[in-house]
Amino acid sequence: MAREKVLVTSALPYANGNIHLGHLSGAYLPADIYVRYKRLNGDDVVYVCGSDEHGVPITVTADKEKITPKEVVDKFHEANKKAFQNFGMTFDVYSRTSIPVHHSTAQEFFKCFYDQGLLVEKKSMQFFDEKVNKFLPDRYVEGTCPKCGNEEARSDECEKCGSLYDPTELKNPKSKMTGETPVWKETSHWYFPLGKFQERLEKYVNEMDANYKWKDNVLQYCRGWFNEVLKDRAITRDLDWGVKVPLEDVQNKVLYVWFEAVLGYISAAKELSELRGEPELWKKYWQDKYTKYIAFIGKDNVVFHTIIFPAILMAWNDANETKYCLPQNVPANEFLNFEGKKFSKSRGWGIDVREFLELFPADTLRYTLGANLPEGKDTDFFWKEFQSRTNGELADILGNFVNRTFTFAHKHFEGKVPLRGTLAKIDEDILEYLKEVPVKAAELIERYKIKDAIFEMMNLARAGNKYFNDSEPWKSSKTNKEQCASTINICLNIIYTLAEIFEPVIPFTSAKIFDMLNAKPTQWLNSGKTNLVEGNILNEPQILFAKLEDKIIEEQINKLPQVIDLAATEAVEEITIDEFKRVKLKVGKIIAAENVKKSDRLLKLQIDLGTEKRQLVAGIAKSYNPEDLIGKKILMVANLKPAKLFGIESQGMVLALDTHEEGKVRLIEIDEAIELGKTAK
Ligand code: MF3
Ligand code: ZN
Repeated sequence: MAREKVLVTSALPYANGNIHLGHLSGAYLPADIYVRYKRLNGDDVVYVCGSDEHGVPITVTADKEKITPKEVVDKFHEANKKAFQNFGMTFDVYSRTSIPVHHSTAQEFFKCFYDQGLLVEKKSMQFFDEKVNKFLPDRYVEGTCPKCGNEEARSDECEKCGSLYDPTELKNPKSKMTGETPVWKETSHWYFPLGKFQERLEKYVNEMDANYKWKDNVLQYCRGWFNEVLKDRAITRDLDWGVKVPLEDVQNKVLYVWFEAVLGYISAAKELSELRGEPELWKKYWQDKYTKYIAFIGKDNVVFHTIIFPAILMAWNDANETKYCLPQNVPANEFLNFEGKKFSKSRGWGIDVREFLELFPADTLRYTLGANLPEGKDTDFFWKEFQSRTNGELADILGNFVNRTFTFAHKHFEGKVPLRGTLAKIDEDILEYLKEVPVKAAELIERYKIKDAIFEMMNLARAGNKYFNDSEPWKSSKTNKEQCASTINICLNIIYTLAEIFEPVIPFTSAKIFDMLNAKPTQWLNSGKTNLVEGNILNEPQILFAKLEDKIIEEQINKLPQVIDLAATEAVEEITIDEFKRVKLKVGKIIAAENVKKSDRLLKLQIDLGTEKRQLVAGIAKSYNPEDLIGKKILMVANLKPAKLFGIESQGMVLALDTHEEGKVRLIEIDEAIELGKTAK
């Protein structure tokens, strides 16, 4: 197979907090596994990443911690770089968007678009703080909610009553910077005309999918965007933290963080070129049409990588001789949650990477996260699962197989790779399977089904143990030494292949095994063949994985906040018991359900309450197929004022729970035995 030239990027994390396990599962571990596999495969890979150091998230953190934005990014850039390193990430460079070459790169793109007349200038009114002479981003204005009177409402949204409004409606606005009353002032911004690229973007996504098969979840997000007309997007902001707008008469404006951050992938490659003393290196990847460019991200970043970034690159390519390559695939992952809930720093829910690696080895984390990647849907990290994967899989299956084989070889074959003699059927069979596994795993990794690939790898270790048991070398060592030698020779060769194909997942362990085997890794293509030289002297076995005792795991679980105080962060308004009693909750049964035309969110339901029937319009179409709902008993608010949705009358509301999946809910289902029309108290 020809060597591929591969450019891989992982989303640039904001340098305003520590990397946690959720980040790793989304955009980093899968990318690192892919990259390590590609390198073993002999492909020519460059893998870049770095800190995203601009934007409001950074200034908000700086304000909160009462330090400068620069201090924030310096602190977290170093911390995250270190955490990634300890986790075994193999970026060729971990760059940052505050470096000069990034600023000049981003400015070059802006200038190119500006000079072409591609950008649209638009005027708008914005809050302005005269005391500091600055325009205020939305998050810097607070006031009284026009609907409920909450005095800590945001400029366009009230967290207390949930209403959205235009910032002009906000009463008594105050600048969060100075506490002064801001004024309205006209400002102007440059907009990137995404709509002009809509057709080409759709074609691009369709073609890439046709040729390289994009993930379903990613295509769904794209289609959602393409269903609407893509609007002009402002690419400048009135801020002073960021990349300055490179126009002479413009001050106090910076490029919108998402416009420049994606270009950080290019500047990171430029920094790598400088570090390697090969000024042209970055062009060999970014500006070669044969480059296979793969962008690893989490689901919240899809639109930026499948629509905005490609549009920026298309616009550049239209105007220049030098042409950039567009992502060939964007294998975005869903989210990893933590023990059933979203990671939340403010609520103390979750664990960050640095903390984790102070307690446990990186490979146990890599394996656990890898075996449970949120490739198709959100998944969870559970401490108990971490324990069972470590003890029951890494230690009992992989570790045990390696250990028993080495112990046997040292005891019966003077610590050397024994000669292989004539083979029995059981030997032929396992050798056949041994050849298949690396091929299968490679196919899966190429399709970004990394979780499945890891399953195949562990299965090889499982098969190794079974082969060892079935071959009974402890018996043949007495009765048939040649056969015994064959068994151990084969087991050692299985271990060699395990070390090879597990390298992308558990690289630290793989290195230990190679060391024990006293052998060097070959290429992925050679794994599955029997490579070990007979007579080769083996080193002493080491214990690969220590088992995790219940005590240690329980300690971690006990550290978590017992009750998460949602009220504290979600500002729930209190009501009296009498007020609550006014809500009539009744048990009903869904007897008919159909989609509401022109809405992908709503279903029309007919509910039987025993004594009467009701028609409801419910926002559950993304969570349920109509036909699956028939017969379900649910809880509904029976005295809600009727309302019309999409022209259909809705006489009540079903109760459902939020899930972690965006836009999805789960109905509160009632036991089949409960009578219709019963009220809940
Ligand atoms: N900083 C963003 C985040 O953490 C990701 C930026 S990715 C890039 O969600 F493409 F913009 F670099
Ligand atoms: Zn309100």
